[in-house]
Amino acid sequence: MALNERTLGSKSSPLLVSRLGLGAMGMSDLYGPADEAESTATIHAALDAGITLIDTGDFYGMGHNELLIRDALRSSGRARGEVAISVKFGAQRDYAGNWIGYDARPAAVKTALAYTLRRLGTDYVDVYRPARLDPNVPIEETVGAIAEMVEAGYVRHIGLSEVGAETLRRAQAVHPITDLQIEYSLISRGIEKEILPTVRELGIGVTAYGVLSRGLISGHWQADRQLPAGDFRGFSPRFQGGNLEANLRLVEALRTVAEAKGASVAQVAIAWVLAQGDDIVPLVGARRRERLTEALGAAELVLEPADLAAIEEAVPQGSAAGDRYVAAQMAHLDSEK
Ligand SMILES: NC(=O)c1ccc[n+]([C@@H]2O[C@H](COP(=O)([O-])OP(=O)(O)OC[C@H]3O[C@@H](n4cnc5c(N)ncnc54)[C@H](OP(=O)(O)O)[C@@H]3O)[C@@H](O)[C@H]2O)c1
Repeated sequence: MALNERTLGSKSSPLLVSRLGLGAMGMSDLYGPADEAESTATIHAALDAGITLIDTGDFYGMGHNELLIRDALRSSGRARGEVAISVKFGAQRDYAGNWIGYDARPAAVKTALAYTLRRLGTDYVDVYRPARLDPNVPIEETVGAIAEMVEAGYVRHIGLSEVGAETLRRAQAVHPITDLQIEYSLISRGIEKEILPTVRELGIGVTAYGVLSRGLISGHWQADRQLPAGDFRGFSPRFQGGNLEANLRLVEALRTVAEAKGASVAQVAIAWVLAQGDDIVPLVGARRRERLTEALGAAELVLEPADLAAIEEAVPQGSAAGDRYVAAQMAHLDSEK
């Protein structure tokens, strides 16, 4: 299957990638145990299908995710230049996995990058980005440090994650920003008001995460699913009690639209994000080949204006019940300020 490409950062620091990227987080963290052999097979299948962007973070499984990607890329036989690797840094966690702050000081940028390059077994990353704005460090200093790493050849492009319009402008004044990684889905549409117009004005691309709202709007979520300790969805507001019931009613409305299109709910949800603009690349969080195959089907799905209207009617803007993170994590989102 051929996957057409999209350009992130069209104006100043362009990066050509497949129109769907693979987010590897769930292969190491946050969604309960994953099967390593199946994760590797899923990465191989993604590359075979034409996916050329893999997203990770150094804190996903505290380095496990990067080592997994390193091994999968080695065993795939692909040349390094065939795949763009996007890495987040800065999130501080303790041994139990608790989130204990952010560190995006210049020295931390350079140290984290050095560890990442060792773990990935490569001498550059394609996109390097702070996972969140560090409230104690001006964005100019963080981006300035990454820019030095670009100059040194260790980083090809600079990205940001979950920041708002003002931070985007300040960052872009220091160095061209290739993409903003941010949650965007049928039930997380907060970026449409100010952030999306701003990235478009600045020529910054978007890598959209949570396009299935972490499985909630995949069409596969069961209200009685038992979650292991530490699964993000065990405490995410949208997966709790009455919120979950209300959100799953939206999914059932979406299912009716999907069935009329001969597609699955997940495919319609991913295709909807794809349809929001050529500057947006959805990251699919598949960790099994079966889920990946389903997600790839979204790239083939053409949504006509009437389909988009039916989708909007099924899941109107602002209809999600519950915030996308718990309050303590919402407070770290510059994008929500
Ligand atoms: N910048 C940030 O702050 C940030 C935050 C979160 C994620 N990310 C990045 O974005 C990537 C994607 O995020 P996400 O994993 O939350 O996205 P997602 O696509 O909304 O959720 C993925 C989950 O949905 C379920 N699912 C059901 N059907 C699926 C299908 N056909 N294809 C894919 N998944 C399906 C899977 O759960 P089960 O396997 O349990 O069924 C899977 O783990 C991550 O891997 C990470 O790289 C970035």
